[in-house]
Amino acid sequence: MPGEGSRRAPGTIEVDRPAVHQDLYRYFVERGGSLTELTWMQHTYHESRRWSAVEMLCAIDVERVARADLDKAYIWNAARAELTTKPGADRLARLADKECRAWAGRNPALSAVMQACGTWSRYWNEEEAHHEVVFNELAYLVGTPPIENEVFIEFRKIFPDDDMLRTLFLLACSEILAAVNYGHGAKHAADPGLAALFKQVAADEVQHMCYFVAFAEALVASGEYPAKNAFAVAQLFLRENGELQGSARAQIERRDTHVNWWDHLVLTENERLNLDNQAKKQEMIFAALRQVTGVEVRSVEAVEETWMELVG
Ligand SMILES: [Fe+2]
Ligand SMILES: [Fe+2]
Repeated sequence: MPGEGSRRAPGTIEVDRPAVHQDLYRYFVERGGSLTELTWMQHTYHESRRWSAVEMLCAIDVERVARADLDKAYIWNAARAELTTKPGADRLARLADKECRAWAGRNPALSAVMQACGTWSRYWNEEEAHHEVVFNELAYLVGTPPIENEVFIEFRKIFPDDDMLRTLFLLACSEILAAVNYGHGAKHAADPGLAALFKQVAADEVQHMCYFVAFAEALVASGEYPAKNAFAVAQLFLRENGELQGSARAQIERRDTHVNWWDHLVLTENERLNLDNQAKKQEMIFAALRQVTGVEVRSVEAVEETWMELVG
């Protein structure tokens, strides 16, 4: 496990308890970390967590779910939202490789972190593919309104490039929102097969969040990326009428460049204002900030104050 010891000895195979690597920058700087070793760990973790979309769908009582309007709304929203993950992962792969080459001469350890991030993006992309197809097929099976090709193509728009730390923290926040929403869907679903699907996908999203947090922490640990960039994104989500309010916001920015899935959720008033969920999302963003920057914040106000201080 990087960060916990030296590289494995030749002749041994280590697949015990795969996990998300931590302390990534120090792994490369202090322990002579290896991209091949790290890739093996990413792969074993990915492989240990694989599941079958076909098997999951077969376990769902489709006729029962077809009579549950709220479950159908969750499924339809999930189907649309997950369409945006492929352009997210495609863009991450490209941006990470660009950053890897930009840092190669100046900071080889940071360059290796970027390459590890770009490499992991293929597992992320593949796992999100499961989410996308399973929810789109289920949406079709239970008879929700069809997702037209124009919407499919619109939701595939590739995000413009941004600062890498901002990008990673925004992706961590996106995974937090998704994880909590799916956890809520799992709790609500009466059909055990559907509950199991939501639970499985929520677990994937939590694991993705852990990866984004680990990469973001490495960027801050390198000293090349200021903590204020992570706080700036947190502020964007947590502020009044911020991204955390999703499609319930009074004003949603109209843009042609890309689609933020949370802007396009179509839910009932009660669902949009689910306050328990908002509190859980806030807590998870505070925890992510702490892990990435080392700064402890426990309220929306504290995030704003810290951000203002860091910006100066
Ligand atoms: Fe997903
Ligand atoms: Fe995800």
